[in-house]
Amino acid sequence: MKQTYIQSSFKDYEDIPGFDIYQRATAHQGYLHYLKDNNFMNYRLLATSGCGADINLAEDGYIKEGNYISFVCNDYLGFTQHPEVKKAAISSIEKYGTGAGASPLIGGYFEFHKELEDKISTFFKRPLGSAITYTTGYTANSASLLSLLKKDDIAIVDMAVHASVYEGILGTTTKRFLHNNTEALEQILSVAQDKYRTKMVIVDGVYSQDGDLAKLKEILEITHRYGGVLLVDDAHGIGVIGKTGRGAMEFFNILEKVDIITGTFSKTFGNVGGYLVADPELITYLQFQSRQYAFSAAATPIVAGVNKAIDLIDEEPHWQEKLWENIEYYRKGLQDIGLNIGITESAIIPVKIGNIQKNSEAGKLLLENGIYTNPIMYPAVSMKDSRIRMSLMATHTRAQLDKALNVFEYVNKKLDIAKPI
Ligand SMILES: Cc1ncc(COP(=O)(O)O)c(C=O)c1O
Repeated sequence: MKQTYIQSSFKDYEDIPGFDIYQRATAHQGYLHYLKDNNFMNYRLLATSGCGADINLAEDGYIKEGNYISFVCNDYLGFTQHPEVKKAAISSIEKYGTGAGASPLIGGYFEFHKELEDKISTFFKRPLGSAITYTTGYTANSASLLSLLKKDDIAIVDMAVHASVYEGILGTTTKRFLHNNTEALEQILSVAQDKYRTKMVIVDGVYSQDGDLAKLKEILEITHRYGGVLLVDDAHGIGVIGKTGRGAMEFFNILEKVDIITGTFSKTFGNVGGYLVADPELITYLQFQSRQYAFSAAATPIVAGVNKAIDLIDEEPHWQEKLWENIEYYRKGLQDIGLNIGITESAIIPVKIGNIQKNSEAGKLLLENGIYTNPIMYPAVSMKDSRIRMSLMATHTRAQLDKALNVFEYVNKKLDIAKPI
């Protein structure tokens, strides 16, 4: 049985023919035991301090209680711990309490929500009324797409888009194109031309596993040439990419031309929630037609922290500069060891290992030596694409990065993890 577990993944337990929910849960439990017994259980580790460049973990199996250098937090600019962001969230709680009490349509729409929508519209250089917020980044994609795209429409998606997009396009016709392959995209659009009411092309700005950027300029041009609508989810680009932190769209100089932008408050903005930016009429449509928005309670007053985080992107650009110093230093350090970091152009740094077993061993050895990373395997990436995934932060110190590089050198000596490029 153990032999089969080695090649297993969580995906295998999503649906098992003939198994009812309890039998499926029992089979799943067996897999979790295998992970735990082999010290590969790097999921749901219990942290006893806040999100940041270092973190305290509770004792759990082979994991010792103590402080770890952390590369698992997507809080790229360190704003979850910024005193001004905390202050904004605390004052908002003091003024409004801890909850919104209703969905935005029936009593749960407060002035801090409107201020946030206005700030997002302005941040993306659109007229007021161009933004809607959701209570997660996930639903900013899934719930809005479910509402916008029906069976007579088509979603044309880069195969590497986030799971939330895949959920959002369940009710429409769907075509996937090879990652960042603009010829494949054009081929699909040319065939789709007059067959669908809306042809929506959906890409990420920064891809969440390889950290590479979409070829946004070409994708926008092709999409518009064939009468399509472009949606860019730049969850990992905002605050990180572009001269003023407006993401991959700013980097490619197309910020004002993208039809629909989605993103999250859970990364650079140091909170939880998500947003969609588009033509104001489309925003109003979603306010009334998007079921998750209309029938679910609005964000808590803590979301006012995002208002301050948005300001800080412009007011304190040194965080983005420090982040890029860290990215360049760390990337070079990993490459000097001989490790394969792929084609990253962002704060997401993968160390590509390939072999699932070695990847798990590497994750464990890193953790045993005080470095907390995310070992990523199928189905998040393809079977041969296992990697250690890391998010860099502006608040990582040089000493922390040096310690992590030393541990990587040790892990490479022990496990020979340098996958050919
Ligand atoms: C590209 C992308 N889009 C959307 C999301 C969902 O955002 P959230 O975690 O804030 O719900 C994520 C989260 O990991 C993501 O990586």
